[in-house]
Amino acid sequence: MNSDLYRMVYLSRNNISTDEAIVRKEIVQILRSAREKNVKEDITGALMFNTACFAQILEGPRDNVKKTFDRIECDGRHSDIVILDFNQIEKRAFPNWSMAHVGEDSTSADRFFMIAEETNFNPEHLSGDHVFNALLASLDEADTASPSSKAA
Ligand SMILES: Cc1cc2nc3c(=O)[nH]c(=O)nc-3n(C[C@H](O)[C@H](O)[C@H](O)COP(=O)(O)O)c2cc1C
Repeated sequence: MNSDLYRMVYLSRNNISTDEAIVRKEIVQILRSAREKNVKEDITGALMFNTACFAQILEGPRDNVKKTFDRIECDGRHSDIVILDFNQIEKRAFPNWSMAHVGEDSTSADRFFMIAEETNFNPEHLSGDHVFNALLASLDEADTASPSSKAA
């Protein structure tokens, strides 16, 4: 096993706005800066959002994931961050995406976020695997629907 490959999965509350257009504009900026920095840090992953919350996966060398998360954690655009998983992995699930944007118009994303809200972000009811699988499923859907959405 590559001993220095880690995956972090977290969930957070979206503080941007309840206005979807404003959220979208901010997301474009977040993705732009994330993709630029993540390439340099050898980080890959996926981000899913709605007007209520974010779910993100960061994969890469342990110190780089930690460093990137430390920066993200201080960002006022979200709060109530819950780390659901930070563990060693054998291989990346999102090797071709510096930061994939997944879950738009996806029923699995909507379903997932409903669960997140209903459980009030309680990690006892939300596992890292659950979030990971929701993002991976959403990525598969998006990829099938629109190959041009590939970001890396
Ligand atoms: C939900 C969310 C996800 C983010 N994901 C990333 C990311 O994957 N990589 C990254 O570098 N910045 C990400 N950011 C942006 C950082 O928080 C930060 O604004 C950006 O890296 C610029 O940092 P700097 O001002 O210290 O240069 C994210 C922000 C939010 C709110």
